[in-house]
Amino acid sequence: MAVGVFDSGLGGLTVLDALQRRLPDTPFVYFGDNAHTPYGTRDAEDIFHLTCAGVTRLWDEGCDLVLLACNTASAAALRRMQESWVPAEKRVLGVFVPLIEALTERQWGDNSPPREVAVKHVALFATPATVQSRAFQRELAFRAIGVDVEAQPCGGLVDAIEQGDMILAEALVHSHVEALHRRMPRPQAAMLGCTHYPLMEDAFRAALGPDVAVYSQPDLVAASLDDYLTRRPQMRGPGTESDYLTTGDPIAVGQKATLFLRRKLPFRAA
Ligand code: DGL
Repeated sequence: MAVGVFDSGLGGLTVLDALQRRLPDTPFVYFGDNAHTPYGTRDAEDIFHLTCAGVTRLWDEGCDLVLLACNTASAAALRRMQESWVPAEKRVLGVFVPLIEALTERQWGDNSPPREVAVKHVALFATPATVQSRAFQRELAFRAIGVDVEAQPCGGLVDAIEQGDMILAEALVHSHVEALHRRMPRPQAAMLGCTHYPLMEDAFRAALGPDVAVYSQPDLVAASLDDYLTRRPQMRGPGTESDYLTTGDPIAVGQKATLFLRRKLPFRAA
């Protein structure tokens, strides 16, 4: 029917927004697992099973292509899903690779050996589960050599954003950047490796200072999906309307979505 967009809750809406702006004629089915959010403090086994359940639901909606618009699921579950679970006629993509391709100045599908890149000191801000998975370092090592990565688990930040407590969220951004600076005083680039963090991009930029290149995912992921669909138009599917599913309370989730998108979304029960 359409392209599926999976997230543990609301964070993936920052990606959906960029997708809908970049690909206005493509219908998307968004699935937010709000009943089980946050994923960022769960273990990898749990994240794998929850993500498979959500992706199966999107396949039931006719979405043969599903984008995991969630770094935690992309980091902790995607590789295992692709290696052992996704059937040949379906595709599941993540949000890490576009970020790393931008950092390493690679085109999609460039599988040449890892090489030296301009950036040598990279800070990664992400959920505890994403940091623990070391998926960012693994994917980066396929593409670049000699890059020092310091990862900062940003405990509490997703919850503060979901609760709409932007004062607490801003304070947490500053304290997590300070903690990172104690281990890596001068990062050249910072990766916002959680789909909630684009909402705090200004706070990250202010705390990191003007010399740090901040990489935010939504536009990078949208450009990458656009490219993918140009090469594989059959994965777009025949649908015409976007749809919004949640495992949580559709009314409450629809209202909270306004925080992320500044527009109401008609969520329905998954
Ligand atoms: N949206 C998830 C991510 O990008 C974070 C939210 C969660 O912890 O569930 O990592």
